[in-house]
Amino acid sequence: MGERMGNLRRTHMCGNLRIENENQEVILMGWVQKRRNLGSLIFADLRDTTGIAQVVFDSEVSKESFEKANKIRSEFVIAIKGKVLERQSKNPDLPTGDIEVFVEELKILDEAETPPIYIKDDDDVSEAMKLKYRYLDLRKPSMQKKLKIRHKTAKVVREFLDENNFVEIETPMLAKPTPEGARDYLVPSRVNPGKFYALPQSPQLMKQLLMVSGMDRYYQIVRCFRDEDLRANRQPEFTQIDIEMSFVDIEDIIQINEKLIYKMFKDIKGIEIELPIKRMTYKEAMERFGSDKPDLRFGFELNNVSDVLANSEFKVFSGTIKKGGEVRGINLNGYADSFSRKDISKLEDYVKTYGAKGLAWIKITKDGVSSPIAKFLSEEELNNLIEKMEGKEGDLLLFVADKSSVVFDSLGHLRIEAAKRLNIIEKNKYELVWITEFPLFEYDEEEDRYVAKHHPFTHPMDEDIELLETEPEKVRAKAYDIVINGEEAGGGSIRINNSQLQEKMFKALGFTQEEAWDKFGFLLEAFKYGVPPHGGIAYGFDRLIMTFADTENIRDVVAFPKTQSATCLMTEAPTIVSDKQLEELHVDVKLKEEK
Ligand code: AMO
Ligand code: AMP
Repeated sequence: MGERMGNLRRTHMCGNLRIENENQEVILMGWVQKRRNLGSLIFADLRDTTGIAQVVFDSEVSKESFEKANKIRSEFVIAIKGKVLERQSKNPDLPTGDIEVFVEELKILDEAETPPIYIKDDDDVSEAMKLKYRYLDLRKPSMQKKLKIRHKTAKVVREFLDENNFVEIETPMLAKPTPEGARDYLVPSRVNPGKFYALPQSPQLMKQLLMVSGMDRYYQIVRCFRDEDLRANRQPEFTQIDIEMSFVDIEDIIQINEKLIYKMFKDIKGIEIELPIKRMTYKEAMERFGSDKPDLRFGFELNNVSDVLANSEFKVFSGTIKKGGEVRGINLNGYADSFSRKDISKLEDYVKTYGAKGLAWIKITKDGVSSPIAKFLSEEELNNLIEKMEGKEGDLLLFVADKSSVVFDSLGHLRIEAAKRLNIIEKNKYELVWITEFPLFEYDEEEDRYVAKHHPFTHPMDEDIELLETEPEKVRAKAYDIVINGEEAGGGSIRINNSQLQEKMFKALGFTQEEAWDKFGFLLEAFKYGVPPHGGIAYGFDRLIMTFADTENIRDVVAFPKTQSATCLMTEAPTIVSDKQLEELHVDVKLKEEK
């Protein structure tokens, strides 16, 4: 194009111009959002990271610029010099809507082809196209806003932790596998043939070692890598705000983190959350909400009705109870009319995806009870059931009979699904809760042994230590999660700092001494030399930003995210690499045949 930049220097940002700038000479630079040709005048919306300003090319102001302006198209990059004037027809929807800039000089800095996606919010472009042209999608102010929220949150976190004597320390990315429980991303070592690093699933062991070092208070805003099945709120590489503290117990950690959470909500959302944050034990959360990350913005709590049905003729219920299962229900109180038979059958399909075998229901109408199972129940059972569920006219009662894990999982999800379908979940409401007293172990049916629910260094609750050898399933952990609107925003624990206890723990997990040393030898060695009581927490940083930026899609808050199948559509990572590279890495690739 041969345009000279000359000595044009940007003086203002497009989105910041106001009526106060009237009559000022300004130089703006940016992208052409759109151009309208009205004969003797050409209007263009000029966009930079701050917003949009209207610029006007008038042949009476500058004939040369006016003629050049005929050539500009959407997404051309231009510089203009001109005068800010009050607009005749103001645009109240635009922050700069009171003014426009009459152009005296136009430079086309770069031309652009017609972009393959629209650079505007309410488009109907597929997500795949947006990810392929991510840099264009990121031109949208709404997308840039989310990245700026992310930046600001990191800044607020750093300021707070710095003021509270936490030191930010980087830990290795080329690491040894950590015990977080997902699959590792592995990196082959060229200089150590046949050996691999693991990208860290979290800096868990490193931060504990920093406590052994006496650093006292550590934090890091850190990338973590987990090769796991992806969902709307998971990325294979994601970011944690990772924190560890020495000489503390649960209360100390919860208290300082409540201050941090308060500050984030205040500075980012302008909301003063209520302190102290609610607490609920794991057991209560499961009983009432069927989930260890309950969404407290609405009711529809679970009710155990097994005792009412234990001897029922209806074998679906009583049979399940006899086999050690249970029957629980939720009351969609007041919403009987919102669900037709067909709607309920869709809810039934929904709970089946969580392993339920069916969904029994009772509608209480002004004409009595409507229910496919009423005929199987005695009048007394039906009445007791309704009473236990606090059923009244206009209510819809839904029941699942199964082993408890299936009942919790299906009803826990069902209450959320029902609330979503009813559209009753309030936006801009934030319900925070600490979940405490998690079980220390969970039974892994595949491996047929207990595994650590959090990780093997989690401290049992003091009063449960004696149960480690006898009834491990009953041992509760000094572990806690912070849940925001039904999402696990973070979690942590107090760690074991005593070798005998750690040995007991490994024993309960079925590790031999050798296995434990093979996996975590460096930690066990370090733990011989004086370990302070310590504990910490890690927040899912991306998930916090999702909350602050009001989005349910984690990809919205990551500049260059991966798809559900862990690929980058823009760079096409991962890719095949050359034979030479593989050879240097001592790696042979043999693909298994797809079945
Ligand atoms: P945990 O495994 O619970 O704890 O992880 C902490 C938080 O990280 C977030 N998170 C994720 N976010 C996005 N994509 C993912 N794939 C993903 N996986 C986890 C969640 C979660 O609450 N070392 C311990 C912390 C500790 O004990 O201090 C740990 O990593 O919001
Ligand atoms: P059936 O007699 O199997 O046709 O079941 C009668 C009703 O009970 C139907 O509405 C089923 O959806 C429901 N149902 C069947 N199995 C279960 C179960 N395990 N839990 C709850 N409801 C069930």
